[in-house]
Amino acid sequence: MTYKIAVIGFGNIAKAIITPLLEKKIINPSDIYCLVNSKKSLENIKNNYKYKVNIFQANSKESKLIWDCQVKLLSVKPQQFNVIIEGNTNKTNENLLVSILAGVSLEKLSKKFPNHKCVRVVTNIPIIVGQGLTGIAWGAEIPKNQKQFIMKLFENSSQIYELIEDYLDIFLALTSSGPAIIALIIEALSDGGLSGGLQKKLAEELVMEMILGTINFLKEKNLTTSELKNMVTSPGGTTISALRVLEKKSLRSALIESIVSASNRSKEFR
Ligand SMILES: NC(=O)c1ccc[n+]([C@@H]2O[C@H](COP(=O)([O-])OP(=O)(O)OC[C@H]3O[C@@H](n4cnc5c(N)ncnc54)[C@H](OP(=O)(O)O)[C@@H]3O)[C@@H](O)[C@H]2O)c1
Repeated sequence: MTYKIAVIGFGNIAKAIITPLLEKKIINPSDIYCLVNSKKSLENIKNNYKYKVNIFQANSKESKLIWDCQVKLLSVKPQQFNVIIEGNTNKTNENLLVSILAGVSLEKLSKKFPNHKCVRVVTNIPIIVGQGLTGIAWGAEIPKNQKQFIMKLFENSSQIYELIEDYLDIFLALTSSGPAIIALIIEALSDGGLSGGLQKKLAEELVMEMILGTINFLKEKNLTTSELKNMVTSPGGTTISALRVLEKKSLRSALIESIVSASNRSKEFR
């Protein structure tokens, strides 16, 4: 089954979700109805986006068309949520609202979109290269065929985890904020390499390959993180010397707190 899809807010993440679906011909550009806020974004998408989707500026006369679409992907920033006003959706029981907004609860979504069954989705930026992680919390009873359709939107470019809504904040902290934390770690370790005299590019390449290799090793050998740590930490050696510094600087605690903080921030949007 296929539906017309309205995309309310066609920014970075919405494009990351929709583009692979168009590339793989899972949906047709003519079935996508997008909404943006500014004239600049409207022109930019009209002139530069690879696929000829229907695109409108919010509050324009034509933008009313988006409310005819049975499936709506809500992908504005949480701060922009209050500006959106549901407009003339048909009153059938078939309308679906899929929100990717950080934090905004199913209860809040259902109040704002009373003629819709609401679903909350959390996805992350590696979805652009087909390696995303997507958490889905289903709202009210959603028929199997509609659930399958929503899964189809995400399963090509991410692994899907069906979760209860309470776990979405911590899922978001780990998976959505996580890439920024990892990028910062890569940058800092590379600066360590730079301090030892390596060129920036080489240092970064070494760090990224080291991280990839470590993850593959852990997975392939089915090792726990402590087993791996013990394997490469010899008495009086270089690694224990490095780990001692990290313990002194409370890196472990800083990382734990960073995830808790991101999760709490997500809860504040409720
Ligand atoms: N970035 C991430 O890594 C990430 C990951 C997971 C989830 N998310 C969630 O995804 C959502 C969008 O993030 P993003 O990074 O894609 O933001 P973004 O690039 O800024 O996109 C926001 C889009 O919403 C449009 N918009 C703003 N006000 C609007 C209105 N009143 N009516 C219709 N459209 C409007 C903007 O149009 P203009 O360009 O004209 O302003 C833009 O197209 C956020 O809620 C975030 O929590 C983000």
